[in-house]
Amino acid sequence: MSKFLIEGGYPLNGTVRISGSKNAALPIIAAALLTEEECVIHDVPDITDVHIMAQIIRDLGGEVDFENNTMKIRAKVLYSHEILTEDAKKLRTSILFLSGLLARKGEARVVFPGGCFIGKRPIDTHLRAFEDLGAQVLSSENVIHVVTSGLKGAGIRLLEMSVTGAENTIIAAVMAEGHTEIRQCPTEPHVQDLCHFLNSMGAKISGIGTNILHIDGVPKLHGTTHTVTPDYIEAGTFIIGALVTKGHLKIENINPDHLDILWVYLEEMGAKFTLTEDAVEVFPTENLMALKKVRTSVFPDFPTDLLAPMAILLTQAYGISRVFETMFESRLNYIVELEKMGVRAEILNNHEAIIVGPATLKGTTVTSWDLRAGTAMVLAGLAATGTTEVSEIKYIDRGYENFEEKLTQIGAKISRIE
Ligand code: EPZ
Repeated sequence: MSKFLIEGGYPLNGTVRISGSKNAALPIIAAALLTEEECVIHDVPDITDVHIMAQIIRDLGGEVDFENNTMKIRAKVLYSHEILTEDAKKLRTSILFLSGLLARKGEARVVFPGGCFIGKRPIDTHLRAFEDLGAQVLSSENVIHVVTSGLKGAGIRLLEMSVTGAENTIIAAVMAEGHTEIRQCPTEPHVQDLCHFLNSMGAKISGIGTNILHIDGVPKLHGTTHTVTPDYIEAGTFIIGALVTKGHLKIENINPDHLDILWVYLEEMGAKFTLTEDAVEVFPTENLMALKKVRTSVFPDFPTDLLAPMAILLTQAYGISRVFETMFESRLNYIVELEKMGVRAEILNNHEAIIVGPATLKGTTVTSWDLRAGTAMVLAGLAATGTTEVSEIKYIDRGYENFEEKLTQIGAKISRIE
């Protein structure tokens, strides 16, 4: 079991480049199954989840090379329609292969997905959309089993604004016969990036970036070359890292439009930063002010995946801040860890907590409850006095590329112990 040891009190200074988005790369890798030709995908983050997705494609019979953040996928022949390995169980995005397998093989059996434990994570939105497109769900318990004699375009109203639910629906629809309309579609940058990738393969998706997508099915897709959109959650994490350590940091390879709600909140807090077309420069700021309420919602509102890092920033702000997680029921565990570090905070219910700032964070032993809570603990350690030990960092390895190397290059004192 690996842990991070962090010696706090060192500002993050210099320049850091943001990697390609995890949550865009994963569905794009799954969508590459739709063609027999080669897809070349640049800026794929070198993280555990990506390696598991690549292995799943190899197990199905496809070829995958992954070097220097470029992944080449060639799914010329798929021998199997089954994904039942222990690794596949560990990540949520193994279900994204259901759609590609339905389109290519007419049948898919995929083990019920795991992923971060952050609350109930149903998949009814995915299954209902597959049924709308003419598939039959034979089982949905431990193994999801779907079959079709041919997917047909349909009018689909997604049950929930589910990101992976929408992605599965889009992947299934692009080669379905006829026209599909998807209503209540989330517009997260990773959903948009998947659509751009599919269009570059010859798909006909319009309305990208809106809540209603129109898709004209095509019989065949071809190979393509695509660069994954930058990871706006990683960007937000480094921005907050600079602010909590009072560093002077330039964060490159970002799309400022993806984080416009963060800029609004940072301005309200009095943080000093400047934006350019593809970078943000963060300056040391004293006397940050609390935020009355940070409420998560779908894009372009505040992302649930950035709330835990944001909570660390709020521990350094003057006044009482309230965080409100609307999507998941078990995503506030990091508040308990922050209390161990000396923060005055209170969990009001499964979705809401208050944080009293500014707090002097004290290094201690804390747990990484999930991917984002884990990086939040690292940020807290960087801002704390003394040494912080963060356990269960396997979650962080699933989603952040070279996290400790990147942090070390900009001045953090962080080491990994096995
Ligand atoms: C995606 O998860 C992301 N994962 C999550 O990021 C992110 O937190 C989440 O979207 C919300 O933005 C990937 O993109 C790989 P959902 P996903 O289906 O798709 C309800 C991270 O840290 N719902 O959008 O699994 C559900 O209960 C991860 O990178 C249904 O009711 O989440 C929740 O309240 C963690 N029925 C809401 O929708 C369904 O069938 C959002 O879930 C599906 C979801």
